[in-house]
Amino acid sequence: MTKDRKLIIAGNWKMNKTVAEAVDLVTQLKRDLANVKEVDLVVCPPYTALSDVSRVILDSNLRLGAQNMSEQNNGAYTGEISALMLREFSVRYVILGHSERRQYQEESNELIARKALAAHGASLKPIVCIGETLDEREGNRTEQVLETQLKGSLAGLSAHQMEETVLAYEPVWAIGTGKTASTEQAQSAHAFIRGVVAALFDDAVARRVRIQYGGSVKPNNARELMSQPDVDGALVGGASLEARSFGEIVTNSI
Ligand code: PGA
Repeated sequence: MTKDRKLIIAGNWKMNKTVAEAVDLVTQLKRDLANVKEVDLVVCPPYTALSDVSRVILDSNLRLGAQNMSEQNNGAYTGEISALMLREFSVRYVILGHSERRQYQEESNELIARKALAAHGASLKPIVCIGETLDEREGNRTEQVLETQLKGSLAGLSAHQMEETVLAYEPVWAIGTGKTASTEQAQSAHAFIRGVVAALFDDAVARRVRIQYGGSVKPNNARELMSQPDVDGALVGGASLEARSFGEIVTNSI
């Protein structure tokens, strides 16, 4: 199927893979996906593997992403990593506001907005994650939650920066649970999100911005999800840890 927007499929490896395992995985992906031109492909290893993975994919169609970064550029922030440090490894994308960070590190929409601005300041494209919990969905609060997250996490971005930002709709109840949103649930959330972007920016920006779906994306559900008019890619957790399943997600999406 043809969409104006190029699909973007990213693997979020989370806190998995030693350097040796990461190099092994990305070496297989580089070989298996060498001919894929229709999709922007991104791998997001842990910080410790960025340098080695970066070297492996230098001459490939794979792009590098990080899973988080500081909102500060440098200074006395023990344990933090800045956008400029990521740039040293040719990182192009950075996942921001993943629900696990919102939950375990208590990241707020305001913090995520500051990180998104810092990412753009260093020419990194943020992948900003939003999504409702099961309680929120069952309480019919999905749209309200998504709107609040979008308004807060995208605050201060220019229209151009918004176009260069990727959004990832990840219903929290679908992450790592094997429960995928139905294609109707995904499409309706994505259409709603695009509408909010149109209201916050304008129609042209909303038409260009790419919205990934995330939450138990697997080879057997990728095609149907990706065929939805407002679904422009996937943010893949568990199934990105093996070359075969990530590769099948990509090839099934084309
Ligand atoms: P999952 O994770 O594919 O394992 O559900 C998705 C994510 O958290 O990005």
